[in-house]
Parts: sequence; structure tokens; C-alpha cells
Amino acid sequence: MQVSGTEDKVTVDTLRQMKNSKQKVVMLTAYDYSTAGLVERGGADVILVGDSMGMTVLGHEDTLPVTIEDMISHTAAVCRGVTRPLVVADMPFMSFQVSAESAVRNAGRLMKESGAQAVKLEGGEEVLPQVSALRRAGIPVMGHIGLTPQAVHQLGGFKVQGRDLQAARALLVDAQLLEEAGCFSLVLECIPAEISAEITRVLSIPTIGIGAGPDCDGQVLVFHDLVGMFDDFTPRFVRRYGNAGAVIRDAVREFSADVRNGDFPGSEESFSTDPAVIDKLRGESSPGEEG
Ligand code: KIV
Repeated sequence: MQVSGTEDKVTVDTLRQMKNSKQKVVMLTAYDYSTAGLVERGGADVILVGDSMGMTVLGHEDTLPVTIEDMISHTAAVCRGVTRPLVVADMPFMSFQVSAESAVRNAGRLMKESGAQAVKLEGGEEVLPQVSALRRAGIPVMGHIGLTPQAVHQLGGFKVQGRDLQAARALLVDAQLLEEAGCFSLVLECIPAEISAEITRVLSIPTIGIGAGPDCDGQVLVFHDLVGMFDDFTPRFVRRYGNAGAVIRDAVREFSADVRNGDFPGSEESFSTDPAVIDKLRGESSPGEEG
């Protein structure tokens, strides 16, 4: 059965079918209307409006300052730009951690005001009450374990997770509990490939990896990393497929030179009017010619 790449809207059910038929899920981030359209036309199945936009688009040092209002506004722009991909909106820091009730209220707002079809939240066992409450409210939830960037200060930096037996066991247990609580899919970030493979084997929901090896059911990258538009740092798990940063910089350089030397705009980029109009206008505005 061919699921990926068709015109049909991708749903949480499509992703389940893709896992069962061993078709890889392609997920990418996007944070605005025009990029989302390009990502759809490039064939992505899922668009994640990630809180990574705090770093790639808003220029923060980490994802913690991102607000629910930021997420609503950017997710709504993405939803206006796409038809086929499933749009998943990230729950930002402190929009779900405090209580299951605040998680439902914020996720509900995010979906109602943006048009997203699902939300993603970071965390393991500690977020099970939130996942269950969201499921009861009819809100599809994607989980996210391993390196969870909202916990960067607790983790002591952006580091690979689950390297020793105890940590690997904890990840596997978290993954199973999240599936039981109702997650429809699970992001595995920065986990040794063998551990992700085992989690993927054991779960019946699709896993989507980032720095988690080749055996996940799907892969996700941050759009700005993929196309070479974010240079602050490049994690080892990123593969660059383009150099849009250089293309944009060169276009801006050419524009600057053309403006400075008078080559832009030319007659093709300008509008004109009847010469009689300008003659009359000049006559009216010439100094000293009254009456
Ligand atoms: O915010 C984000 O872009 C993410 C992905 C890296 C999975 O959470």
C-alpha cells in the first residue's frame, strides 16, 4: 500500500499504517506560510512547528522563552500554507508542565486558534497525566524523549541521552508508558542508534528520530539546519542538503550593489505615466510662476 507521497491528508492513522507497512515517515519543521508550502511540495508527511523556532527564527539561546502566543501565530501561518501534511504544534516550556489542566487548556487553545491537528510535548513518566488528559480531551499527542531541549539546564547541556544501561532502561520504560497513555507517535532525540532500534521494535506507534540512528520509523530535521540557514551551531546528527544561507546572502549582496550603483530599479521594474501629466505637474510646481 502506497501511503506516503499521495494527495490524501496525512492523519495520525496514516502514520500508524506507515509503520505497519514499513514506510518511513518524513517530518520537517516549518514556522511560516511560505516555508511550509515548500516543505509540503518537497514531500514531507508531517510538519512540526517546533519550539526550535525560538533559536532558529527568534534568536534566543534556547527554546525556553517561546510562548504559547508565539506557537499559535506561527502554527496558524503554517496551517494556511499546507493541505496534505499533518501539522503538529509544539507545546512550549511551561505550557503543560504545571498540571494536566493547564496542558489541556493550552493545547486546546493551540489547536483552536491555529488549526494544527496534533500537539507535541517533551518528557517521560512525569508527563503521563498530561498525555492521558489530552487524549481524553480528543487531542492527539506526539511524545518526545531523549534529549528534551526544554530540560537543557537539568540535563547539563545538549548531550546524547541513554548511553548506560540504567538510562537506556529508563528511556524504554518511558516510551512504553507514553504509548500506553495514548501518544500516537514518539520523537527520539539524541539517543544511541541501538537503543532507538529497540524502542522502535517494542512500540506499536511510530518513532521519529533526530540523532537517533537509521532504525526509527521516520526521521525529522530542523528545516534551517537541512537547508543551511542556521549557522550558530550544527549538531553532529544534521546533514545539510542545501546552502540556502549562501544563496540568500549572495542575492542580498547583488541587490545592495545594484541599488548603490543605480542599476535597480530599471525600466522593467518601474511604472510610467502619460508625458502630458508630468509636463503639467512640472508646470504647476515650478517656483515663481503664479496665476
Ligand atoms: O522543536 C523542534 O524542532 C523539535 C524537533 C527537533 C524534534 O522538537
